[in-house]
Amino acid sequence: MVERVYRALFRVVLMRLPPETAHHAAMLAIRGLGAAPVVADVVRSATLHGSARVRTMGLVFPTPFGLAAGFDKNAVGLRGLAALGFGHVEIGTITAKPQPGNPKPRLFRLPADGALINRMGFNNDGAAVVAARLKRLRRRGGLPVVGVNIGKSRVTAVDDAIEDYRFSAATLAPLADYLVVNVSSPNTPGLRGLQQLDLLEPLLAAVLAEAGDTPLLVKIAPDLEDDAVGHIGSLVGRLGLAGVVATNTTSRRDGLRTPAERVEAMGAGGLSGPPVAVRSLEVLRLMREALPPDACVISVGGVATAADVRARLAAGADLVQGYTAFLYRGPGWAADLGHV
Ligand code: FNR
Repeated sequence: MVERVYRALFRVVLMRLPPETAHHAAMLAIRGLGAAPVVADVVRSATLHGSARVRTMGLVFPTPFGLAAGFDKNAVGLRGLAALGFGHVEIGTITAKPQPGNPKPRLFRLPADGALINRMGFNNDGAAVVAARLKRLRRRGGLPVVGVNIGKSRVTAVDDAIEDYRFSAATLAPLADYLVVNVSSPNTPGLRGLQQLDLLEPLLAAVLAEAGDTPLLVKIAPDLEDDAVGHIGSLVGRLGLAGVVATNTTSRRDGLRTPAERVEAMGAGGLSGPPVAVRSLEVLRLMREALPPDACVISVGGVATAADVRARLAAGADLVQGYTAFLYRGPGWAADLGHV
């Protein structure tokens, strides 16, 4: 019923709005849901059920399915998102310094592919503001498992990236259930270069030292070569990180139904949704082989259905996330996918 109402509303209203305006409208509704604790609790108990519980990284997740980074960058919708059935929410990417992100338009729909292209550029309130918000939220309770995804501030030179990540890690790790170093978004110049092993090792070692008891993961791109995936897996094992989030969006544009000239007109950015599913699943398999068996893999990229979640779990994922299909499928989506 909720789904039918949403689908009608979605077609008539949200799809006519520019995508970023639609996102803000949806977030307002989610915040409204979270602000009404009784309603949120009723919705949550109808959406979550105990049998799908997952234990990994020393944490208990109410379902294997969660919301990927980028939707709730500033931790403003956590209670409402939990009520909709997301067992965990990865907030961020958060940078050491607040920043506005890239000029608009920076988010584009490809309905024929169920996909999105974005070049948001880490618009966020900055580590200190989000930390203060999380502290208040933790006191009130009712939160899902909260992952905190951190990235490099745009104004920080790549050579100074370690200090920038260290600041965010020190500020946010005490408030995070798990922490993610994002070196895989295509919209911050030089960021993906940090996946190179000689740069990645000192970066991860430095953040690990700040993370304390908080499990630390690294989020990688789907565009890495197969052997690079294996090398990062070995590094994660050697350093003793908790695991890997695989994958972020892709810079590729092949195999799309949307006409090439329309795609080209959208410009640079990361492509997400079903077009990344095949590579994301491949990277999951490669990573599972490269990692120690007790390391956690969070699989993300093109997950749209409960069957997709089951396939990722069968391929060795401990947890599964999604983002793009939430926009196309509506508020009942997470609850459906939590029932696996
Ligand atoms: C993202 N994603 C993302 N990832 C990240 O680590 N930090 C971020 O800030 C963002 N921001 C962001 C914005 C938008 C608009 C989208 C669509 C995506 C990537 C996201 O977390 C995920 O890895 C990919 O989108 C692949 O999953 P889906 O969308 O195919 O389910």
